[in-house]
This record gives sequence, structure tokens and C-alpha cells, in this order.
Amino acid sequence: MLVTAKTLLVPARKKKYAIPAFNVNNLEFLKSVMAAAEAMKSPVIVQTSEGAVEYAGMDYLVAMIRVAASGNIPVAMHLDHGKNLGIIRQAIRSGYSSVMIDASALPYRENVAKTKKVVRWAHAKRISVEAEIGALAGIEDLVSVQERDAKLTDPEEALRFAHATGCDSLAVAIGTAHGAFKFKGMTHLDIPRLQRIAALVKLPIVLHGASGVREDLKQLAERHGAKLGKARGVLDGDIRKAIRQGVAKVNIDTDLRIAFTAGIREAVDGLPTIIDPRKLLERPNTLLTEVAKQKMKLFGSAGRA
Ligand code: G3H
Ligand code: 13P
Ligand code: ZN
Repeated sequence: MLVTAKTLLVPARKKKYAIPAFNVNNLEFLKSVMAAAEAMKSPVIVQTSEGAVEYAGMDYLVAMIRVAASGNIPVAMHLDHGKNLGIIRQAIRSGYSSVMIDASALPYRENVAKTKKVVRWAHAKRISVEAEIGALAGIEDLVSVQERDAKLTDPEEALRFAHATGCDSLAVAIGTAHGAFKFKGMTHLDIPRLQRIAALVKLPIVLHGASGVREDLKQLAERHGAKLGKARGVLDGDIRKAIRQGVAKVNIDTDLRIAFTAGIREAVDGLPTIIDPRKLLERPNTLLTEVAKQKMKLFGSAGRA
């Protein structure tokens, strides 16, 4: 059933588990994620970036996700990192049940103004809104305390922002970064900062850039020709701590991409006589489902559908 993200996230924060939010761009990712959700009985947020909209077309994405949401699993259809107000409006009109307005790169007042506008549009249609305050940056790129404070989310500012905008969930910056190369040295998050944010902001908190970059899948891809070098992600232990502190939505894209790429490479290498793409896509789909299931266990969303 199609539900708003808020419907899923409020109980998650209260009971200290998190809903996985997976990025999808095509049918393979969507079906593999839904196979995991059904097997694990987990609610799920299926999200598409503006890049996904450009790649697949919003009409195709909406039609596919509507089908995915037509069963018993609670599914939120979410626009990830909405920056373009035209795309956000289109998503609201097209049947998304949740949108993100990401104006985090703008000065505070402009972020508030743009977010408020989206909240007005979305709430008129009973759609929930995720907003962001702070800039995603790997902690080790921020060498001085001043630099850290300038980039990572300030707890007091997060509280003011949440009140001023009326958003339903809040993405914060505590040291994660998007993509496969998150940390130069040791991986760690600013959990004390998250604790201070969560003590003030009672909304469900969202963690972007949360992929773990599984070593076994990285190696599988590399055995079949990939070059992933020093790719490094967030530790499972840090994800658990973050969820205990109030993170209720965890965004995963990179881990799905690595699983899928590893599977594709292995299949193409190992099945030289096969030209049927459906056969070549079996292995990547299986690995993707396996990764999605593992996240549902880690986040505690398994069994909550
Ligand atoms: O946060 C970004 C997501 O990984 C989406 O990436 O813009 O390449 O679709 P994308
Ligand atoms: P990863 O790149 O760590 O998977 O983060 C994805 C994300 O935050 C999507 O919004
Ligand atoms: Zn993100």
C-alpha cells in the first residue's frame, strides 16, 4: 500500500528502528528491493533522484512504483534531493507520497523560504516533506573545529529550522558523504552531535550517505575488473548507534550500485555464451536483494510491515 514517509518514520523514531530508503532508477532495482521487502516483511521507501527522473522519466517511475506499492507492503514513493521546484511540483502532482526539498546549499534564510514553499504545496496534498540542514562532507575533510561547525549540522539551528519550516523529517550532516569514497582514513560519524540534535529536534532524523561499501562485494567486483581502490563506507556499528539516537530513515544507493555492478561483472565474465540480458541480470538482481535484506535486518525494519 502506498503511504507517506511520515506514516513510516514517526513510529520508527519512537521505537528506535529505521526505514531503509533505496534509490531506484529502473525496474531491476525496484523489483529486487521489493523482493527483499516482501521476504523480510519490511516497510520501505523507494526514492528517485532528479537524475533518476532524467534517466527513466517520471511517468515510468511513478507507474512502476505504483505497482510495487499495490501489495501489502507499506511503500512510500519519495523524491530524493529535490532541488528544482518544477520537478518537485511535478512529483507532487504525479502521485509521489513524499518529497525532499534539498536547499541545504543555500544560505539559511533561503533554505527556510524554499522549504516552506514546498511544505505548503505538499501538505495541501497530504504529502510529507523531508528537508536538509547542514552540508554532507566526510568528517576527515573537515580538519578544523571551525570548518566542522560550518559544514555539519548545528543542533540549535536545526531546531529553529524545523520550527520555521514545518517539515516532517530532517536530514542532517554528521560526517557521512555520498558515494563510495566517504572517508580518507578511519570511518566514523559525529554521534555526539547527532545526540545533541536529537535531544532538541523530535522529528524523524534522516541519514544520507549511509552506505557501508561491503568489502566482499567490492572484492567480487574487483576480481572481475572493477577498480574501486580506497572505497570506504559507514560502519554497521555507527549505523546502529545513529538509529538508537533518533535516525529513522537511512538512505542507501551506493551499496545497491556496488552489488549490482559486481553481479553484472561476474555474470558477463562467467557466462560468455549468454546473450539473453534476463539471464545476465539474474546474479545482479540476487545480490541486490541480498544487500537490501541485510539493511532491513541492520535497521530493525524487518518484521514491521
Ligand atoms: O544522493 C544521491 C543519490 O545517490 C542519487 O544519485 O543523482 O546519481 O541519481 P544520482
Ligand atoms: P550513499 O551514496 O551512501 O548510498 O547515499 C545515498 C543517499 O544519500 C541518497 O540520497
Ligand atoms: Zn542523499
